[in-house]
Amino acid sequence: GVVLIAILFASQQFVSAEELPIVERASFPKDFVFGAATAAYQYEGAAKEGGKGLSIWDTFTHRPGVIAGNTTGDVAVDQYHRYAEDVWLLKDLNMDAYRFSISWPRIFPKGVGEVNWEGVKYYDSLIDHLLELNLEPYITLYHWDMPQALEDSIGGWLSPDIVDAFTRYARFCFERWGPRVKHWITFNEIHSFAGAGYFSGEHAPGRCSPPKCAAGNSSTEPYIVSHHALLSHAYTVDMYRKEFKDSQNGVIGITADSSWYEPMDSNSTSDQQIAQEFLEGQLGWYLDPIFFGDYPASMRKGLGSNLPTFTAEEAALVKGSQDFVGINHYSSMYATRNETTGESIQTAYKDGVAIGGETPSPWLFVVPSGMRKLLGWVRERYNSPIIYVTENGRDEANKDESMPLADQLKDPERIQYYHDYMQNVLLAIQDEADIRGYFAWSLLDNFEWAVGTTVRFGIYYVDYKNDLARYPKDSAHWFQQILKKTTDSP
Ligand code: NOJ
Repeated sequence: GVVLIAILFASQQFVSAEELPIVERASFPKDFVFGAATAAYQYEGAAKEGGKGLSIWDTFTHRPGVIAGNTTGDVAVDQYHRYAEDVWLLKDLNMDAYRFSISWPRIFPKGVGEVNWEGVKYYDSLIDHLLELNLEPYITLYHWDMPQALEDSIGGWLSPDIVDAFTRYARFCFERWGPRVKHWITFNEIHSFAGAGYFSGEHAPGRCSPPKCAAGNSSTEPYIVSHHALLSHAYTVDMYRKEFKDSQNGVIGITADSSWYEPMDSNSTSDQQIAQEFLEGQLGWYLDPIFFGDYPASMRKGLGSNLPTFTAEEAALVKGSQDFVGINHYSSMYATRNETTGESIQTAYKDGVAIGGETPSPWLFVVPSGMRKLLGWVRERYNSPIIYVTENGRDEANKDESMPLADQLKDPERIQYYHDYMQNVLLAIQDEADIRGYFAWSLLDNFEWAVGTTVRFGIYYVDYKNDLARYPKDSAHWFQQILKKTTDSP
């Protein structure tokens, strides 16, 4: 009797448990794209070489004390000189695509006007190398490196005149590379550079506003710069569609980032609502205008006239300005109300226990299910858009750098992270989200903005101490394995 009950119980458990998909290429839809993501300032180096103009990040990193260890991106991981090798590394990983950004001031040293042909040839050659190995370029036009000349002359994103400068830069890129590049991303994480660049001051151009800095710049700056970036996006997409899309046969979208926000008390309608408002305030800030033509009502309610408005003409242009949406996702947070102040707050801790595994990055907690939930939220709210996960990954526990190289290359936490998050991408696909690709952040260890080289996000290790040589971590071998193309298909 006992045995029978045990068997019945076990089989019932088996039936009711969700079957977890195996994380390997064959489990994903046909033509699903796997790649690695990078960005110009974090990788290229050659900051003053080849005719490049300065960007706000070149200026910012040279201010003492703003970057951990006073590191700069002057050399970064030297991809400007080592791109051929890096393209081979991608191929070796069995990847299909490479997401990288173009440095605006490498093409237009002054932001507008004269073209730096040496810079143009660099990207010509990078794209040649990718295509030769059958790797698909996914180009981000803006990954945070505003030409310093435009910052000085008009105030960068704070000025409405930036829209015209950006669309000219974008037009050049489409003309030059559009015949060979079929996937364009206008912006990477407007939310990040608006917040860190204009609220906390931790990123270039280092502007800080109240309440973070008592006597700072106007606290509306993040909303203004975001507004101008959204308009730049919309005008650029409009131009691409009118002048390039048909002949070049490509697609264009934008990348937005968000944590998943989990109601601290899942039964509390108040916590549920706060979580929803955080999602609207981070993702909806950008995706609502793009899908619906206006900012979320919850933001308007909270911000009133501090949130800019779109004219009817602009709204019409912004609405529908995407062929796909890129999602960068890493972490989750709890949402709740602070009992004493009544404010909505986000925190990673509930009764002193973290929402997920901790990492050296204080904002990054390992919560794989957040990936499925966030992708589900995007699917539902925006009516099943085409999605690419354009970034996902983690840094690793900091290691003593005097450890032997072989030990530096062991990154079991990263393998686990990628496995679990990619499994949740598969579950989101089972839930009928239209996800077409997945990009790991990042190919190599690289310059991680304000924290410099103190954290490592690469699936390849970079030897900063010696010669910047690249070595595969265990996670590189893992990707190589799971991305193998099966030979049994004809
Ligand atoms: C967001 C950014 O797009 C990228 O530049 C950054 O390095 C990673 N996520 C990790 O923080």
